Amino acid sequence: MRIAYLNGEFLPLEQARISPLDRGFLFGDGIYEVIPSYDGQFVGFAPHIARLNQGLHAIGIELNFSDEQWREICAQLCEQNGQGNLGIYIQVSRGADTSRGHAFPQGIRPTVFVFTFDIAAAPIADKQKVKGFKVISQQDLRWQRCHIKSTSLLGNVLHYQTGKDAQVDETILFNDKQELTEASSCNLFIVKDGVVITPPLDHQKLPGISRMLLLHALSYDASIKVEERAVTLQEAREADEIWLTSSSKEVAPVVELDGQPVGTGSVGDMWLKAQTLFSQHKFEL
Ligand SMILES: Cc1ncc(COP(=O)(O)O)c(C=O)c1O
Repeated sequence: MRIAYLNGEFLPLEQARISPLDRGFLFGDGIYEVIPSYDGQFVGFAPHIARLNQGLHAIGIELNFSDEQWREICAQLCEQNGQGNLGIYIQVSRGADTSRGHAFPQGIRPTVFVFTFDIAAAPIADKQKVKGFKVISQQDLRWQRCHIKSTSLLGNVLHYQTGKDAQVDETILFNDKQELTEASSCNLFIVKDGVVITPPLDHQKLPGISRMLLLHALSYDASIKVEERAVTLQEAREADEIWLTSSSKEVAPVVELDGQPVGTGSVGDMWLKAQTLFSQHKFEL
C-alpha cells in the first residue's frame, strides 16, 4: 500500500482526497518538484527545494516550510514506501476556494501533496547498455514563463505527445530565432569538436537540477571545455553529440534528430565521460 502525505497527514494514497475546487485542479495553479531517491539518498535535494521555493514565491503562494521539514516529510515517505528507487513528487497548489474565480482568493491554505512512485535504477555509464534516444524538433509553443516549474503542463504535454505520435522519445524545442530552448521534459546539451555547449538559463527554459548537477560534475575534469550560450537548431543538426538531462534520465544520449543520425549515429565518447562524472558527483549538491 502506497503512503502519501496530504496537508500534514500521512495516509494511504487511495484515501487522499482534495476538493474539486482546488485551484491546482481548476487552473493548474501550483508548483511541483520531482526528486529521485536511491535507497534513501536524495539527488539534488537542496537545489530541488530551492527551486520549489522560488516557484512558490514567483506565483505568490506563501508556504513557510523549512528545508528540514521537507527533508523530514520526504524521508518518512520513502521509509514508509519501502525505500529502493523512488521518485518523490511534491505538489503545492494555491488551495481550494469556495467558488471559481481567477483572482487569488484571500485566506485559503495551500494544498501540499507528496507521494512516491517507483523509478528505474540509476542510469549507469555504459555505452552498450544505455538507450539511444530519438527526437524530433518543433517550434516551442509554450508560455513565456518556462523557468517556473508550474503544474500547468499542457504545453509540455502537447509537445511530448507530438514526439510520441511520431514514434520518437522526446521533442526538442526551438524559439522564433531558431535557437534551442529545451525539450518537453528535459534540458539540452550538444557537443561539437570536444566542447560541451548548453543554452543559457532564461524564461524560455526550466533551470533543470540535472543540468546544474551535470555542469558541477563536468567542472571536475579541467580538460572538458563547457560553454553556456545560444545553440541554433542548425548547430544541433551538425553536432557530434546531443544529450538530454532530467532527474529520471540523468544524461541521456540522443542518436537521431528528425530522422537523421546525430554524429556517427551511435552513443558518443563524451557522453560516457559526462555520465561517469555525473554518477560520481550527483550527491554533492
Ligand atoms: C520542461 C522541463 N525541462 C527540464 C526538465 C529537467 O529538470 P530536472 O533536471 O530538474 O529534472 C524537466 C523535468 O521535469 C522539465 O519538465
